[in-house]
Amino acid sequence: MVGSRLSFTLNGVPVVVEGVPPTSTTLSQWLRHTGRTGTKEGCAEGDCGACTVLVSELHEGAVAWRSVNSCIAFLPSMAGREVITVEGLGRGDALHPVQAAMVKHYGSQCGYCTPGFVMAMAEGYERPDLVADGPGASARLCAHLDGNLCRCTGYRPIKDAMLEALAARDATKGQGATSALVSIGSSARELEALDVSLQGRFMRPNSLQQLLALRAEHPQARLLGGATEIGVELRKKLTPLPFLIATDGVAALAGIEETAQEWIVGGAATLTALQEALTESSSPVAA
Ligand code: FES
Ligand code: FES
Repeated sequence: MVGSRLSFTLNGVPVVVEGVPPTSTTLSQWLRHTGRTGTKEGCAEGDCGACTVLVSELHEGAVAWRSVNSCIAFLPSMAGREVITVEGLGRGDALHPVQAAMVKHYGSQCGYCTPGFVMAMAEGYERPDLVADGPGASARLCAHLDGNLCRCTGYRPIKDAMLEALAARDATKGQGATSALVSIGSSARELEALDVSLQGRFMRPNSLQQLLALRAEHPQARLLGGATEIGVELRKKLTPLPFLIATDGVAALAGIEETAQEWIVGGAATLTALQEALTESSSPVAA
């Protein structure tokens, strides 16, 4: 993709975005400016979770959902992916199970944190390692939700809602799909290379060779990984970002491999992926 046009899927519907400066627009800014105001902004620096949305990732050939702070996620990083916001979480009039549990447990007062919470909970609902009981279950659940802050309800009813949703999910295990999220499957393939510009240039190579060539050709460009630092520079320090090269399209950099002697962790591997790999490993290092 070259030009100022990029496309992705939003709540199951393909969207094409044009005329948006790619190095100074985050996903939450675009969502809210286009009327999708269910996604809230609190801190605008990746700390409070109010802006959480779900973004697809290709994982072992299938679509996996990851919760993302949309306030610091650059809009072009969504190209070729599927995004679910709180507006797309339920199906028609039917609430997602975590939303229904939040209603039942009075998990919301002012409601400002609620869209972000339910999105993080919906991601947790997809994770087989999150369960309602058993050793370490409560700690894992709290760790899963600790990126979301609530200033008025208190966390107890929110935790109770999540526990109930997980228990109901596991009670129906073996009776069909447990996923409550719909993917149209458009992102179940490698990400395409991207080159978009408008008052700034955003490139996303999709091979290591391309990345190295771009790096050599444009040494002034900044490399963009998860945007947890550069996104804050944009939103809080108003740092001009004329040229970004994103590394998330380079599958070779996302790898995590365990050998008998060492762990080899790609420069674009996420902390979540690393945590999952360590959790699954039986090596004493992981323990
Ligand atoms: Fe606080 Fe995005 S608005 S994490
Ligand atoms: Fe008010 Fe959570 S319900 S901040």
